[in-house]
Amino acid sequence: MTKQIVVSGIRPTGNLHLGNYFGAVRSFLKMQEDYNCYFFIADIHSLTTHPTPVNLQSGVKQVLAEYLACGIDPEKSIIFIQSDVPEVSELYAFLNMNAYLGELERTTSFKEKARKNPENVNAGLLTYPVLMAADIIIHKAQFVPVGKDQEQNLEMARKFAGRFNRMYNCELFPLPQPFTFDGGDMIKVPGLDGSGKMGKSEGNGIFLVEDPKDIRKKVMRAVTDAGPLEPNSKKAEAVENLFTLLKIVSTPEVVSHFDAAYNDCSIRYGDLKKQLAEDIIAFTSPIRESILEILKDEAYLGKVARMGAERARESAQKTLNEVKDVIGFRRLF
Ligand code: TRP
Repeated sequence: MTKQIVVSGIRPTGNLHLGNYFGAVRSFLKMQEDYNCYFFIADIHSLTTHPTPVNLQSGVKQVLAEYLACGIDPEKSIIFIQSDVPEVSELYAFLNMNAYLGELERTTSFKEKARKNPENVNAGLLTYPVLMAADIIIHKAQFVPVGKDQEQNLEMARKFAGRFNRMYNCELFPLPQPFTFDGGDMIKVPGLDGSGKMGKSEGNGIFLVEDPKDIRKKVMRAVTDAGPLEPNSKKAEAVENLFTLLKIVSTPEVVSHFDAAYNDCSIRYGDLKKQLAEDIIAFTSPIRESILEILKDEAYLGKVARMGAERARESAQKTLNEVKDVIGFRRLF
């Protein structure tokens, strides 16, 4: 049986943190066993915020090395860089003709970005969902693993794919669905600042590539409260968050030890934080070492990128030829 197709893109902005790992990367590792996966670095999308050439280059290299270090396997998955597949930009141009100003302006992420940066409301920002749709449908993906914040963009991709099919009376594109594990094992990783989830822009993240001494510093500074006043009291959100992190990186014995200490009011948050820091470091250290190794091996990075580009282009060209045929670009003379 042919495997179903999964596409997911990652913008090359900032290092991967524990939230990215347990929220997304870990499910990519599972998916690559059973699906035909295309994982790419969305460098064209990142141009909306005008990175310098040097930052763009180092960002792309960094994410590529980080994904490889986490275990995304270039033999199993097709790992590529968006700008290496020009067919995507071509399909983007075609799709733009059937994407309407009104619907693009109504997109939540567009409104949000326009509000935050009123001096940089560029057309690329407006048509961001069209480029994202091109990324997805050019490989005829059935599934796209994305977080909540991308659901609307995915809905737009379905809209553009369906509109194309109807307009040209064909069934070229499947309608891509959000990918969710039946076990529901997408974990939300909390930050260290007392509330909310770990995020790049929240500045509350622990990076996979981070130095052990910086990890210790961050964890020791994490928000807590004054400690439980009576036995078996409910944990404040900040404390609950530390326990959630502990559950992710420590053994069940360690978790129940601190749970018991909390419940009989003997807990010392300093001890919990020390333990948490060491267990995070034990988890991230091998990944960190591997990231640093891979970053040094430019020949390997180049080989992976070229191999991925070649395989992604093969699939993209096939679809693009079909698209051109139905649009009426086939020369009859
Ligand atoms: N918009 C996505 C994000 O910011 C990145 C992205 C670009 C993407 N193209 C995609 C995700 C295609 C999934 C599929 O996270």
